[in-house]
Amino acid sequence: MVISSQPAALPAMFEQDQDLHSPNRNLTPLGTTLDAHGRLQVGGCTLSELARTYGTPLYVLDEATLRGTCRAYREALQAHYPGPSLALYASKANSSLALSALVASEGLGLDAVSAGELLTALQGGMPPGRIVLHGNNKSAEELALAAGAGVTIVADNWRDLELLAELAPGLNAPVQLMLRFTPGIECHTHEYIRTGHLDSKFGFDPDQLETVLRHLQGCSWARLNGLHAHIGSQIFELQPHRDLAGVMADALALARSLGHPVNDLNVGGGLGIRYVASDDPPSIDAWVQTVAEAVVRACQERALALPRLLCEPGRSLVATAGVTLYSVGSCKEIPGIRTYLSVDGGMSDNPRPITYQSRYTAVLADRPNAPAGETVTVAGKHCESGDVLLKDVALPPAVPGDVLVVFATGAYNASMGSNYNRIPRPAAVLVSSGIAELVQRREQPEELLRYDVVPARLAPIT
Ligand code: LLP
Repeated sequence: MVISSQPAALPAMFEQDQDLHSPNRNLTPLGTTLDAHGRLQVGGCTLSELARTYGTPLYVLDEATLRGTCRAYREALQAHYPGPSLALYASKANSSLALSALVASEGLGLDAVSAGELLTALQGGMPPGRIVLHGNNKSAEELALAAGAGVTIVADNWRDLELLAELAPGLNAPVQLMLRFTPGIECHTHEYIRTGHLDSKFGFDPDQLETVLRHLQGCSWARLNGLHAHIGSQIFELQPHRDLAGVMADALALARSLGHPVNDLNVGGGLGIRYVASDDPPSIDAWVQTVAEAVVRACQERALALPRLLCEPGRSLVATAGVTLYSVGSCKEIPGIRTYLSVDGGMSDNPRPITYQSRYTAVLADRPNAPAGETVTVAGKHCESGDVLLKDVALPPAVPGDVLVVFATGAYNASMGSNYNRIPRPAAVLVSSGIAELVQRREQPEELLRYDVVPARLAPIT
C-alpha cells in the first residue's frame, strides 16, 4: 500500500484569504486544516473529536481568528486614521465573559445594549471607560448601572435624557454622554437589520438634533462627548459609509458650534462577512480605510479638528471565528421532492435562517472532501416546518452520528438563541493551538424549569 506523504487539501471553496486583514472574507476560521486522517481541524482541534468530548450541538470559537479580527481593526485604524481611534465590539453579536475578556485583552472597547450585556462586559474585565450603552428603551435601572459604573451612555431619545436627569443628583460625576441620531442613509441589506433610514426606531430624528444639542447646553449633569450613527448590518457596499461621514461631520460641526466639546465620532458597525462562496464583502482593512478617509475628508472640508474615530463592529469580529457542530440523525427521503437530513439543533441555536432566510455553508467534519452525492435540506429538530438550517445544499451521503459543521456561526447565533421546545442551549468551546476550553457550559433540561412557579392550588406536582 502506498501512503501519500502529501496532506490532503481543504475543499477549494475554503481557500483562505492570506491577507490577515481580511479574516471576514474567509468561509472558515483562520488556519482551518485537515488532520492526518483527512478530518477537519480548527485551532488545531479535530472537530469530530470535540463533538465526541463535549456533545452536540456545539459552538466552537477559534481564538486565532478572534484575535486576528481584533488586530485587523486596530491596525487598520492606526494605518488609515491620523487621529486617535477605538474599535468597540458590538457584543450583541455574541456576548460572554470569555469573549469580553478576550476583546478587552486586545485593547478594544465594547458596545452593550442591556444590563445583561453590560454586566457581562464589566465582569469579563472590560474597563468601563471603554464601554458604551446603547438602546432605544433603556430602563432606569440600566441607566443607573451604566452611569454609576462610568460607562458612556448613548442617548437615543428624550426619555433617556429625562431618566438621566432624574438619576443625576445621585451620581458623583457627570454622565458621559453620546448622542445617537438617524442619519437617513439607505443601504442594501435585509429590512429587519437596516437602521440608518429615517423610518427607524433608533436615535433622534436629524431634524431634532439642534433642539437636543441646545437642550443639553442647560444640563450641567451631562458631558456630551460624542455623536453616534449606525446604518445597518451585513453591508457589502462602501458608499453608504462614505455618505455617513459627511452627515456626521455636519452634526459634529453643529455640536461644536453650540459649545459642546464633542471629540468622539462613532460611525457604528455593519461590515458584512462571507456566509456562502458567492458572498464578496470588502476586507476589514478596506472598510476601515474607506471610513477613515471619508471622515478625514469631511472634517477637512468643514475645517473641523479631527475627532477620535470610533466604530462598532459586531459580526465581522466574531462570525467567521465560529462554527457549529451538529450530529446527523434521521433522514427522510420524499422521492422526487426533497431529502430532509435532520440534526440535533436548529432554530434555537441558529435562528438566522428562519428569521432572515440567511444562507450558510456546511460540510461533514470527517469527510470534507467527499464528493457531494445528493442535494439535501438540513432540518433542525424543532416542531416547526420552517426550522431549516440549510436549504438544498450539496452534501456527501451522511449517516446517523456523522458530525455536520456549519461555518460562520460566531455572530448572532448563540446571542439570538432561544429555548424553543424547551431545548437546552449548546455548550461553547474556545480552541487554540490544539487545546479546547469550555467557555459556556451546556444547559441541562432540568435547568429549564428553574424559573417555573406552580401556584399551590394546581399542586400536587412532584
Ligand atoms: N452598533 C449598533 C448600534 C448596532 O445596532 C449594531 C447592530 C452594531 C453596531 C453591529 O453591527 P454589525 O457590525 O454586527 O453589523 N441579528 C441580525 C443583525 C442585527 C444587527 C443589529 N445591530 C443578524 O443576525 O443578521
